[in-house]
Amino acid sequence: MTGDANALLDEIAGIGALPGDGGYARPVFSPAERELRDWFVGHATARGLAVETDRNGIIWAWWDVPGGAREGAILTGSHLDSVPGGGNFDGPLGVASALAAVDVLRGRGFTPGRPLAIAVFPEEEGSRFGVACLGSRLITGAIDPEKVRALTDAASTTFAEAAAAAGLDPSGIGPDPERLAQIAAFVELHVEQGRGLVDLGQPVALAGAIIAHGRWRVRIEGRGDHAGATRMADRSDPVVVAAETIRALRAHTLVVDGARGTVGRVDVVPGGTNVIASSATLSLDVRHRDEATVRRIVDEVTAATERAAASEGCTVTVTEQSFSPTVDFDAALRAELQAVLPDAPTLDTGAGHDAGVLAASAPSGMLFVRNPTGASHTPAETAERADVDAGVEALARVLEHLLTHDSSTRP
Ligand code: GLV
Ligand code: MN
Ligand code: MN
Repeated sequence: MTGDANALLDEIAGIGALPGDGGYARPVFSPAERELRDWFVGHATARGLAVETDRNGIIWAWWDVPGGAREGAILTGSHLDSVPGGGNFDGPLGVASALAAVDVLRGRGFTPGRPLAIAVFPEEEGSRFGVACLGSRLITGAIDPEKVRALTDAASTTFAEAAAAAGLDPSGIGPDPERLAQIAAFVELHVEQGRGLVDLGQPVALAGAIIAHGRWRVRIEGRGDHAGATRMADRSDPVVVAAETIRALRAHTLVVDGARGTVGRVDVVPGGTNVIASSATLSLDVRHRDEATVRRIVDEVTAATERAAASEGCTVTVTEQSFSPTVDFDAALRAELQAVLPDAPTLDTGAGHDAGVLAASAPSGMLFVRNPTGASHTPAETAERADVDAGVEALARVLEHLLTHDSSTRP
């Protein structure tokens, strides 16, 4: 209990690790993610924090005040799940830094004037069930619990089945206004997912905004057949249409300053070398600071896909899985964090975070820690040990301030 987030991250470096330098696979409710959750509970309990898992699967570890009242709490924390092939910092850095910040504050003899909670949010990445920030969307009522129960993973396991297997009652998921009302402010620390801090020569930044982003599923149905026996003119090949979706996405994002468009998954069924596919399903991830621009790009890509499908004799269904509007983090809280960390620059981010979802319910902010490669969602994601320590120190100072003063937080 030394305030050492590096040591905490070292402890989990083998959990969910893929062979070679393949990074991590820690999807929600997998053995790896559950091992990480147990690891967190162990550390929180060892520190005398009161640990509970709420009905949305969010773990809360409380540093209570005498009397045990939980109103006016300051919240920190992040997530432990990963994308396929992700790094050990996206999520775990915020969780490890929160535990380490508690150690630092206690080492200084600090006594909080209001409760502090560390939260671990499930399925932040949406890498298993397709919807990012699922835990924070559920608790805030940003998503229909009925829809969540029916979400399926790649093996057609429903969220309800996976949650039940992990010991979470799926009938209990959904909005939790009483719990949200306890939060006076939320500050999530996260590894930076870009080179902003490298370019500025600073170890820690404040978040300004999260740009709008959404996910869509494009399902193209064609007609399976023989790769050798079927004449080219007789085909309805969904992969040919999928190629046009990918080309159109690149073309329509390239011409818009600041736009990002990604097809990260292509699932071709049945997937045989000598088989014309019967269907192709693509993921679309589109982001821009302006929400209308995101929607326009998706409309343009949909129209291009429909034209290609019509000429190939295929059909297309485009389904929105999630949409997150632009979040400008709370100005008063940012000003307060800036006063505590006067040298920290402010950076906007293209990555989504639970703090962005919680921002609709409580004043929220973020700290970013320098990432020398600027890369994330890949094993190349990293942070120098000294910068991890600087992040813990920054978080401890921010928490100390918020746990002592009232100004920008909710009463
Ligand atoms: C989460 O990391 C996202 O932005 O997709
Ligand atoms: Mn993250
Ligand atoms: Mn991520």
